[in-house]
Amino acid sequence: MKEIIEIKRENRNPSKVIVGDVLGLLPEMLPPDRRIVAITDPNVAALYGEAMRACSSEQIVIPTGEEHKTLETVETIYRRLVEIGADRRTYIVGVGGGIVTDITGFAASTYLRGVEFGFVATSLLAQVDASVGGKNGVNVGGFKNMAGVFNQPDFVLCDTGALSTLPPREFRAGLAEMIKAGIIADPALFEILENHSPEELLADSELLTRAIVAAIRVKADIVEADETEKGERRKLNLGHTVAHAIEKLTRDYNHGEAVGVGLAAIADAAKAQAQAVAQKRATLLDALKPGAIFMGGMEDAREKSVVEAGLVVEVRRCGLWRCAKWATSLSVALPSTKFFQ
Ligand SMILES: NC(=O)c1ccc[n+]([C@@H]2O[C@H](COP(=O)([O-])OP(=O)(O)OC[C@H]3O[C@@H](n4cnc5c(N)ncnc54)[C@H](O)[C@@H]3O)[C@@H](O)[C@H]2O)c1
Repeated sequence: MKEIIEIKRENRNPSKVIVGDVLGLLPEMLPPDRRIVAITDPNVAALYGEAMRACSSEQIVIPTGEEHKTLETVETIYRRLVEIGADRRTYIVGVGGGIVTDITGFAASTYLRGVEFGFVATSLLAQVDASVGGKNGVNVGGFKNMAGVFNQPDFVLCDTGALSTLPPREFRAGLAEMIKAGIIADPALFEILENHSPEELLADSELLTRAIVAAIRVKADIVEADETEKGERRKLNLGHTVAHAIEKLTRDYNHGEAVGVGLAAIADAAKAQAQAVAQKRATLLDALKPGAIFMGGMEDAREKSVVEAGLVVEVRRCGLWRCAKWATSLSVALPSTKFFQ
């Protein structure tokens, strides 16, 4: 099974996201007669070093961890590119999870004012979210994604086979972003995630691929409508205000887990808000235009500084699946789930 999703880019060919058993396509995705530089992390290098060496003349290995998604790491990449004489025709491919794809996209977009690049996304979170849509950023002073660019990759290969080596914790982290996509625009995707455990999804590659493709389509549609986040794209930040605050405050959660907690918090706030609205308004659906409830919830969370107010203590007790439960209870609490569509 192979699925191709194209996302429009201004004045360029569309960005192609290809999902399935697709790692073998890498050589043909890379432009011929160009110097190819691969950027990866040590865990991914240990698994895919050979494939990378087969199609790139240089492999730059950056450290793992959110604390290394920084300008300092980007500078080490720039320095190595200068050392090897990389020029504008050099093509960069980022192979790894969301940290590798964020850093690679940023470094490639800024080295010599921009060289072409593509990704092989190897974590679930990178496949369904981080590698898609062209937001490439790094953290500054521990604050998330403070410096970055909008610049979509030429291609993203999402090899579902790569997920078999992903640690279970990282797989679940990716599910959080998929739950987010389901809440934003795809009730059928949400239902798959609600009805299947992570283990069941991993064991059923067809179902997993279908769910990954559905999550990517949610993001692709939104990115096409609003590539540089003037409005619609902000929906993709659902749960992220709280998530980023958590990531700033503690290293106990990885990004996906923090998003899971953020979704749970916002679902809860939205539910409370919906109930309040229901009391005041005769026609609830009128009041709950798509997305508005969540945007409101986020503002609410921001205003009340929920994280500082002790949410961290509360969320330590919450798992990812509780988030799904809360989001489900949100949809049950509303008279119709139509506003998700
Ligand atoms: N740019 C965007 O639009 C966007 C969207 C969502 C998240 N993000 C960013 O993505 C980052 C999180 O990405 P992530 O969850 O992929 O983290 P990550 O890149 O740290 O990867 C998770 C871990 O899994 C390992 N790994 C990756 N692929 C593997 C494989 N196939 N087998 C075994 N191990 C593997 C990595 O080495 C790492 O240790 C965060 O920095 C977040 O801010 C960006």
